[in-house]
Amino acid sequence: MSLKEITMENLNVASFIDEKTEELKGVIGEEIAINALSGGVDSSVVTILAHRALGDKLKTCFIDSGLMRQGEPKYIVDLFNNMGVKANLIDAREDFFNALSGLEDPEEKREAITQTFYKTVFGKIVKEGGAKFLLHGTNYTDVEETIAGVKRQHNILEQLGIDPEKVFGYKVLEPLVSLRKEAVREVGRELGLPQEIYARPPFPGPALATRVIGEVTPERVDIIRTATVIVEEELKDSGAFQYLAILHKDRVTGMRDGKRDFGLQIEVRCWDSRDATTGTPTNISFDILKRLGDRISNEVPGVVSVTYNIASKPPSTIEAI
Ligand code: XMP
Repeated sequence: MSLKEITMENLNVASFIDEKTEELKGVIGEEIAINALSGGVDSSVVTILAHRALGDKLKTCFIDSGLMRQGEPKYIVDLFNNMGVKANLIDAREDFFNALSGLEDPEEKREAITQTFYKTVFGKIVKEGGAKFLLHGTNYTDVEETIAGVKRQHNILEQLGIDPEKVFGYKVLEPLVSLRKEAVREVGRELGLPQEIYARPPFPGPALATRVIGEVTPERVDIIRTATVIVEEELKDSGAFQYLAILHKDRVTGMRDGKRDFGLQIEVRCWDSRDATTGTPTNISFDILKRLGDRISNEVPGVVSVTYNIASKPPSTIEAI
């Protein structure tokens, strides 16, 4: 690929920020740019970088896809508003669940999310707001994995031969595309983002949909959302790169109140990794694993089985779809 990585060793954070600020100002000029904030590290860093470059000419939108974690839309919108970056919360839950209805294949689900995000939701926002640009937090690993054919990251367009200007009516700008996660965090820190944001474990753009095997319905997302709260509470001090819960499609026999319960299975994954390119399962104490098992099977309705993933990436991947 022609894109060149700026490694941690070669990154001068202050000059990177100056360079990107000037570049954004130059390209966008007097036009309006729209920015998609999800609260993940990459999109948060883009938001604060672009706000510095463009001020009020930047319109930041947080899309509530219905796939976000518990309380996340309000938490992120409030946090950015308090930093002086006005973020509009847009309710697009119906659009996403309609597009995902009946789909089980991982790549079809990813394609549905891409189309809903870029065409249905942002196509409308951009047109109504008279914007010419959409800013995006795509990073180097996203591009690399999509080109390698590992999985189609939801935010990759041009590298797949899609011209967003022709297809969706706006240009996509990706100021972080030469950086990996570690470098993106450094840029966020330098730009004054709070540590709770720049040091956050990664969270994928398609959100909890990457953690539901089989059909993504509001009910199934609710189940994985509840399990995610527990996993994040129990593993927040693990020092791991990323930790998550996955809802399986197959049911297994369990028992509840002395009767057979053909119930749900949740898989917990916890990763040691530097940049998500490769990963190994974190060596978690059995006490913590046991507590996770007890809490998830007691607090998440219908769950009768909880497992811990002990495979590495590769051949596993961090997320399940
Ligand atoms: P995988 O599952 O490919 O994930 O091993 C590598 C890293 O990328 C995140 N991820 C995504 N991020 N859009 C994103 O913005 C996506 O479609 C996507 N899929 C995975 C994942 O959480 C991990 O950190």
